[in-house]
Amino acid sequence: MSVSEPTRDLARPVTVESAWYATPPTGSQSGDIAQVILSEEQINARIRELGAAITRDYWQAAQGGPLLAIITLRGAVAFAADLVRAIDLPVELDFISASSYGSHATTSGSVQILKDLDSDLNQRHAIIIEDIIDTGLTLSKLITMLDARQPSSMRVCALLDKNKPCPARDDPGRLAYTGFSIPDAFVVGYGLDYNQRYRNLPYIGVLKPEVYAADAEA
Ligand code: PRP
Repeated sequence: MSVSEPTRDLARPVTVESAWYATPPTGSQSGDIAQVILSEEQINARIRELGAAITRDYWQAAQGGPLLAIITLRGAVAFAADLVRAIDLPVELDFISASSYGSHATTSGSVQILKDLDSDLNQRHAIIIEDIIDTGLTLSKLITMLDARQPSSMRVCALLDKNKPCPARDDPGRLAYTGFSIPDAFVVGYGLDYNQRYRNLPYIGVLKPEVYAADAEA
């Protein structure tokens, strides 16, 4: 059973506009957030569209067995939890952990696999679920590693994309589902962290530079 061409109208990223930026709602962590760039409502609405696109594209393929959702720890957990519930097909969940950032605000340039999948990928239709494609290093490394296991297909669904050049973009069909194109800012919330904090914010916001400035100088 094959996967249909990506449903382009729904799968194309929505570009985040600066006109959408808002002041954060009151809360214990909101003092560290400069601006909200995506509200809970905007995120939820977009996830429903991505779920509908994936449902449509994998309807036929799912007749041959459940779709395998490869969820990247830890950042993609919030997104994946909502996305898989927006997909109206049998879906299995598995988790992989790759780290490129360490505790710093800028990428270290190397990617380490901290936890591998438990499932056998061979002859499976799989979707890698990522919270953000920043440099694209993490995703490029994951794709190279997992392609070698010969899945029937393996596309990527990323909530956020900073649109920087990376090997993961070499195959135009690979990054099939993207939530939002965002500016190159340090964003946190809805799974994304700084030093393991802010993942539980229900929105995505830009972190105030003074929060990470001391670490960047160290
Ligand atoms: C973050 C994020 C992506 C990756 C993107 O993961 O979740 O997986 O960085 O960055 P890149 O495109 O520059 O490679 P991180 O390694 O910080 O771990 P986390 O998911 O636990 O936050």
